[in-house]
Amino acid sequence: MKKAYLFVLGGSSTLLLSIFLFFIVPRVQMGALERAAISAQSPYTETEARGRLAYIEYGCVYCHTQQVRDPSVGADKAFGWGRASIPSDYIYDRPHLLGTSRTGPDLSNIGSRQPSREWLHLHFFNPRLLVAWSIMPPFPFLYAEVASETSPDGRAIAIPGTDHRWIVPSEKAEDLVAYLQSLKRDRDPIPRETKHE
Ligand code: HEC
Repeated sequence: MKKAYLFVLGGSSTLLLSIFLFFIVPRVQMGALERAAISAQSPYTETEARGRLAYIEYGCVYCHTQQVRDPSVGADKAFGWGRASIPSDYIYDRPHLLGTSRTGPDLSNIGSRQPSREWLHLHFFNPRLLVAWSIMPPFPFLYAEVASETSPDGRAIAIPGTDHRWIVPSEKAEDLVAYLQSLKRDRDPIPRETKHE
């Protein structure tokens, strides 16, 4: 090979560039905050943990991220998705569900942005009931659809725009909603010194 040095130079600069972009830059961006403070997360309850498994099972992670970028590298904050994520936001997540594609909005803080149980259930049942242009798939198999003059069940939710039709969420739907309601990674991190108070 005549120009072996070009090969070596190309290879090592690609490696150095990726170390810089994917290791050094994020470390500088997040390191200071992470050293100063820790995310105020609490462990998942049993219901929330089951909902998290359903989130994986139904492929939500393919369309939704759970990572808010620093304002210096993206408009995430302007979209209302809260503060930039820090490593301790994921302290109870194994595996983490950062996601790679944003076909839908980031869900890091959906529990704060959209805490309504009714909204979340109706949206799973049929996203277009609430967001006319939505391309999110519906999950009607998680619900029983019932026609009734009065509420058929304490947990039933009236379907808007219909005459006395209701959805009754399955256990799995309730788990999924509990999981989403628990996603509140927008609180200010707790300063390290006061962490144990
Ligand atoms: C094919 C891609 C796709 C999949 C799969 C998907 N979503 Fe979505 N999702 C979207 C899109 C696009 C939107 C924005 C439109 C809307 O609100 O319906 C959205 C919106 C949402 C919202 C409202 C977000 C907001 O900020 O208002 C929630 C909550 C949500 N999705 C949860 C889920 C969950 C949980 C799953 C898995 C059960 C899931 N999505 C699966 C594409 C998807």
